[in-house]
Amino acid sequence: MPPPSKPAPAKKAAPQNPWTQRQARDPFVLKAKKEGYIARSAYKLVEMDDRYHLLKPGQRLLDLGAAPGGWCQVVLQRVRPQDTGGLLIALDLLEMAEFPGVRTLQGDIGDPAMVRQILDMLNGGRVDGILSDMAPNTSGHPDLDHLKIMALVEEALELAHDCLAAGGFFLVKIFQGSDAMPFKVELQKRFRQVDFVKPEASRRESREIYLLARDFTAPRLAV
Ligand SMILES: C[S@@+](CC[C@H](N)C(=O)[O-])C[C@H]1O[C@@H](n2cnc3c(N)ncnc32)[C@H](O)[C@@H]1O
Repeated sequence: MPPPSKPAPAKKAAPQNPWTQRQARDPFVLKAKKEGYIARSAYKLVEMDDRYHLLKPGQRLLDLGAAPGGWCQVVLQRVRPQDTGGLLIALDLLEMAEFPGVRTLQGDIGDPAMVRQILDMLNGGRVDGILSDMAPNTSGHPDLDHLKIMALVEEALELAHDCLAAGGFFLVKIFQGSDAMPFKVELQKRFRQVDFVKPEASRRESREIYLLARDFTAPRLAV
């Protein structure tokens, strides 16, 4: 009789890197999978909207830094542009999946040709709100990353002058740093109410925070 063969050694699970481990434990990642959101970031907007009631059926909105599309999904559920005559334009540097009812653009917010395309899509009209979850690739140098994201929200604010309707809102992500307060002060000159917001879904250890500016008072007149 042949000797009993040795049992194969149990396969060791591949070691997980810290990012994978964190994702596997993150309640918002698990919830997003269960509820069909493409990204956990969707819950940041859900939470801010539940608190401030920004999104309303029929609105026209701009979503900057929209990929992969978590915020688009929330807007589609709450604004229902297809049924209500609303509009959602989503811009990102990256190619993103098509969502029915969303007009996607691929490009850089800092590119004047891209801004032109947005304004052309609006055809002289204005939007009720601008959402920006744009974030640069982080370098690990907090001050540098702060400056990079502030440059993105400055671009978004520039666009707001051209296409945000009076009374509209502006919700943007920044990383905390020296220019956060001066930017808030800038917003206060143009909006009646401006607040910092840190949603629960935003990781506590992250320097990310949102600035929510409501009731826009400074549309630039078309020339
Ligand atoms: C945190 S992700 C956005 C997540 C998105 N809100 C969601 O829920 O799926 C940040 C996005 O900003 C985009 N981004 C960064 N710089 C940009 C720029 N200059 N113009 C347009 N998009 C930009 C990145 O490509 C990235 O997809």
